[in-house]
Amino acid sequence: MDLRDLYRDVIVDHNRSPRNFRRLDTADRRAQGFNPLCGDKLEVYLRMGDDRIEDISFEGSGCAISVASASLMTEMLKGRTETQARELFEDVHALLTRGADEAALAELGKLAALGGVRDYPSRVKCASLCWHAVTAALDDVAQVSTE
Ligand code: FES
Repeated sequence: MDLRDLYRDVIVDHNRSPRNFRRLDTADRRAQGFNPLCGDKLEVYLRMGDDRIEDISFEGSGCAISVASASLMTEMLKGRTETQARELFEDVHALLTRGADEAALAELGKLAALGGVRDYPSRVKCASLCWHAVTAALDDVAQVSTE
């Protein structure tokens, strides 16, 4: 199995069985990400404690890339500080738009599976939808658009 097959399988798995796909009733921050190109919306919920993301979840509807990206994001962000979450978004954005070297890929873990969207510019917004939403939630902004 080559790396591209592995990455495709990660996306398929996280789209079929999204992790942390639920409303979080104990959330103290939440925001909705909206992609005006397709009308898809994802809502991200956060519960913060001691500057760390104690719990995170999402719900809504979107394409396979946006759902898989949100699922992977929630797995990666649980337990991270607000600063670490923002830094990880910068690394993911670089991966989606410019690519990443070996060291960056190791840091990104399973999120590296999203790197293939770089060849499909309209898909970059799909993969980054949840990240815009989580950044908006951290900023206490209720809704953000990928426009
Ligand atoms: Fe709507 Fe991907 S097509 S988020």
